[in-house]
Formats: sequence, structure tokens, C-alpha cells
Amino acid sequence: HLSGPPAPERGEPLVIAHRGASAHAPENTLAAVDHAARLGFRWVENDVQRTRDGELVVVHDETLARTTDVEERFPGRAPWRVRDFTAAEIAGLDAGSWFGPAWAGSRVPTLTAYLRRVDRNRQSLLLEVKRPELYPGIERDILRELGARGWLDRAHVRHRLVVQSFGAQSLRAVREQHPGVVTGFLGTPPLTELPVYAAFTDQINPPHTAVTPEYVAAVQRLKGPHGKRLRVSTWTVNDAAGARRVAAAGVDGIITDRPDVVRDALEEG
Ligand code: G3P
Ligand code: CA
Repeated sequence: HLSGPPAPERGEPLVIAHRGASAHAPENTLAAVDHAARLGFRWVENDVQRTRDGELVVVHDETLARTTDVEERFPGRAPWRVRDFTAAEIAGLDAGSWFGPAWAGSRVPTLTAYLRRVDRNRQSLLLEVKRPELYPGIERDILRELGARGWLDRAHVRHRLVVQSFGAQSLRAVREQHPGVVTGFLGTPPLTELPVYAAFTDQINPPHTAVTPEYVAAVQRLKGPHGKRLRVSTWTVNDAAGARRVAAAGVDGIITDRPDVVRDALEEG
């Protein structure tokens, strides 16, 4: 899978490790990226936010409480929002112990460190701009970082990177600032509005509960801003029956905490 083609035109969906292989290692850490690579998965998904002093970090929740020891370390700083902490403060947090003692010492990675690791592992990235409304201008920051690390080079930008968000405005900003980047909208726009989305996004990525063969086909009939048919990657599918169902509905990608389970289900058919 690590060296396989990007997205098949039809056929078996691409399997994307959600927050890394997050059923097996603490989500959004380098350990979760490495675990996905060890299992043979090329694509990983992550969530990007911004610290008080402007550093981009990889963490899912708006606060640090669930996935780090921030409450213990900074008892007076409730509600422990990512945007209220500096990069140095966040770098000192333990982002692994909550998942299990074996993971103690895992860190909240900066986007810089995360990209370096994904690169080293020869993986590809589905990068989510998380809660863009909280971080004005974060798209520019993300594109600057991606550019500085070579991720926007023409030769491979379309094959190793998708930027997705629940925020349509965020995707419009990415498209305006760097038209070569493939983007994905998280959600399920009504059928009548799909052409509006097709003007600025290459993928429509709905929750698995919204996936039907009819909806997937309606999306895939449209062409995106790069002139290719729109793709559909759905989330978060963690069991074999669910994987078979969305695959039968025709999705292009399955975003999962358990990429191994999904792969086995697809292989067994
Ligand atoms: O990749 C889709 C999925 O990650 C969106 O939901 O809450 O896990 O970021 P969430
Ligand atoms: Ca996400």
C-alpha cells in the first residue's frame, strides 16, 4: 500500500488511517503515523490547529484536556483551549498516557514534525483544517508550512495531499491561495447544492451514516475544479460490515481508526 497508486478510478476504496492508526496508538501522534506505516497504509488523516504564539499543531479537540495531561500540569488554566497555550507549553505535555502507559511521553506534534515523519515514512496526508473559524488566516499558515517542506511541488501535490474541512470558506481560501491543492468538504450538502461545492472542492466527504449509493453516484457525476470527477471518502468506519456497506455504495475512500480491519473486510469481499 505504501507504494501503490493514489486513488483508484473505480474498484476498491482507498483506506485512510484516521488520526493515524488511532485504534492502535494515541491519535494524531507520530506513533499513530508510524503504526499506520507499519500496517502498510500510505494515507493518514490528521487535524491541524494553532497555538497562542502561532505554531501549527496536530490535535483534534478544541481543548487539550482529553488527550493530554494538561489538567494536571496547568490546573489553573481551564478550559485548556489549544489556542490559549504556547507551542513550548504544549510541547511539554504527555499526549500518550491517556491511551495507555506504554505510550507515555508521546507528544502533540507540530505540523512541521508531523510532515517530516509522514515524509520519512513515504506516506500521504489528508490534512483537516480543524475549526477554521477559531483561527483566522490559518489556511495561509498551513500552505506556507506545506510549501516550505516541499509538499506543494507540482510533481506530487495532487498525489500525496488532500486538504479537507467542515468549513467551506476555509476550502475556498485554500483554493484561492494555491489552486493546485486537492480539497475535500466534510459533510453532506443537499443534492441541489452539490454543483456549488463542485466549483471549489474535489471531494465530498460525508459521515458513513449519510452514505447511500444514490448520494455517492450523484456526487461522482460532477466534475471538480481540477476537471476530474468528484470523489467521496467517508468517515469513520471501524467495522467490517460497515466497510463492506460503504464500499458497495461506491465510495472512493474509507477513513478509519482500524485500517487493518477495513482492509481485511475489503479483501474478503
Ligand atoms: O476525516 C474525517 C473526520 O476526521 C472528521 O471528523 O471529528 O474525526 O475530525 P473528526
Ligand atoms: Ca479529522
